[in-house]
Amino acid sequence: MRIVLLGAPGSGKGTQAALLKERLAIPHISTGELLRAAVKANSPLGQQAKAVMERGELVSDAIVLGMLEERLNQADAAAGFILDGYPRNPAQCDALDQLLERLNQPVDRAVQLDVSEEMLLQRLVKRGADQGRADDSPEAVRTRLGVYRDQTAPVIDHFAAQGRLTRVAGEGTVEEIAERIVASLRQ
Ligand code: AP5
Ligand code: MG
Repeated sequence: MRIVLLGAPGSGKGTQAALLKERLAIPHISTGELLRAAVKANSPLGQQAKAVMERGELVSDAIVLGMLEERLNQADAAAGFILDGYPRNPAQCDALDQLLERLNQPVDRAVQLDVSEEMLLQRLVKRGADQGRADDSPEAVRTRLGVYRDQTAPVIDHFAAQGRLTRVAGEGTVEEIAERIVASLRQ
């Protein structure tokens, strides 16, 4: 099964993907995590991405697409995948459609996690304090939420227009939300 997880920063994409990958036995592919690994490794790609990410803006489409393509070409992704953090704007939607068409692996379902802005802020501020993720500063969080509203929200319409979108309430315990997602995938 090929799933795209959609939702604002802090909506629980990474948390839910970690559970789903075990249940569905398919890899979790997070463009944010791939980028953070590149920054940590201080690779040329990481050097290019670091400051942009710290501001909460989007890394260039070309860089992210190249990285994603490399990951999707690894053997484990042939069984399916949970994509988290991609696509994030209309151009990435088109790039993903073309890439997956070429691989003959279209997206089966996009699941959108619905969480109120108040709850998003609460979760991100807490993680910023607990873990110090570089883009959880109040300023970067504001930018990330703005980018989501302006650039990523249209992605939801794209999957809805294809009849592949499921919306799931993203508030409650992690397990409750996971159950909702699994139930929605069975439909
Ligand atoms: P990315 O890593 O994708 O971050 P994000 O979308 O901003 O979202 P988060 O990872 O913060 O939230 P999440 O939805 O995964 O929630 P999580 O499970 O962590 O992107 C980071 C940056 O990389 C971007 O800003 C951009 O610069 C770059 N980038 C990435 N992809 C890109 C692309 N395609 N194009 C261009 N640039 C790209 O949960 C959040 C917190 O809430 C955690 O602390 C968690 O423990 C907690 N939590 C989760 N669920 C619950 C719950 N049910 N109850 C209570 N707490 C919960
Ligand atoms: Mg995440």
